[in-house]
Amino acid sequence: MDQKCVICKSATYHEHDTLTSSLRKQFWQMTSMRMFIWGDWDLTDMESDENIQLLACPVPSNRYITLFLKKYIEKIESMPDYELDDELTEFYISLISTTNTTSFAPGMCYKTYVLDKEQYMRIVLQEEQTMVSQGTTGLQTWDASLRLADFFAEHPGIIRGQRVVELGAGCGLAGFTCAAMGASNVLSTDFNSDVLKLLEGNRQTNTEYKDKVQVAELDWANLEECARISSNVDVIIGADVSYDPTIVPLLVAALETMLVSPQQVAYITAAVRSQETFELFLKLVDDTGVLGKSVMDLTEAKMSTLCLPNPVSDIRLILITRK
Ligand SMILES: C[S@@+](CC[C@H](N)C(=O)[O-])C[C@H]1O[C@@H](n2cnc3c(N)ncnc32)[C@H](O)[C@@H]1O
Repeated sequence: MDQKCVICKSATYHEHDTLTSSLRKQFWQMTSMRMFIWGDWDLTDMESDENIQLLACPVPSNRYITLFLKKYIEKIESMPDYELDDELTEFYISLISTTNTTSFAPGMCYKTYVLDKEQYMRIVLQEEQTMVSQGTTGLQTWDASLRLADFFAEHPGIIRGQRVVELGAGCGLAGFTCAAMGASNVLSTDFNSDVLKLLEGNRQTNTEYKDKVQVAELDWANLEECARISSNVDVIIGADVSYDPTIVPLLVAALETMLVSPQQVAYITAAVRSQETFELFLKLVDDTGVLGKSVMDLTEAKMSTLCLPNPVSDIRLILITRK
């Protein structure tokens, strides 16, 4: 399949995919330079005209491309027997003369998540470049979401043919991944109006999965709505939704309401920034008396289907079912 990039609309994904796999995936995901895993890479991959075109595509932002190239050029220069390509140098110089990298320029960008190696399966999400924007944490994809999406990409069998609902979806990566992995339908939910607007925009961008994904408002405090939705759901997913001790009781109540049969299962990933908050979540699940759980550590998962940068916090996957 030689699909055109949904953002630049000129190059095909095949043309974009000339970087070595892990480097390319991290570049398209705009993995921060602090977390970037360089590993083994082939310098020759960056030296052709196509790669200059690749970098000129408005995905990712010019600021990110400039920071990436700065590191990249430093690496090339530190290698004996290797000369920097003139075109790449010129391209870099033209970028730095027009891009301000000293002051952080927040704003929307497009991140591309590559789900496989051969068929060019992509999820393109518009996101904010700051962690908290417009008073919400939902306008950026969090590490817990990357890991949950990767978990489904690595184990598509658990999602194939399932009816999925995502709680606190944010930009929607985990839900779109379920759609890509063969879920029969995905209801992508959040309670913040700016997040819902972005989520719907992301649904429209990802034309391949658009018809399988629906976007809807769902506040975990609205147990009546949670109960209504639960009758059409096999799998509940949520990434980085248990981060705040004040919302954890709401989340657990929503899960208790939605998990009505032992056949349903919830997959929740948590970034353990506070051990206390994480343990509160587990305790409240136990306290329901009707929900059972098991916990897996996803912290060490690094280079699997998606490219996972080193996480800032440990990441746990909690599987929850009705006993
Ligand atoms: C840290 S963000 C995670 C977003 C996304 N799942 C990710 O990991 O990239 C938490 C999300 O939970 C949503 N959220 C918080 N409280 C909620 C509630 N009571 N009902 C529904 N969504 C809620 C926020 O709007 C936000 O999008």
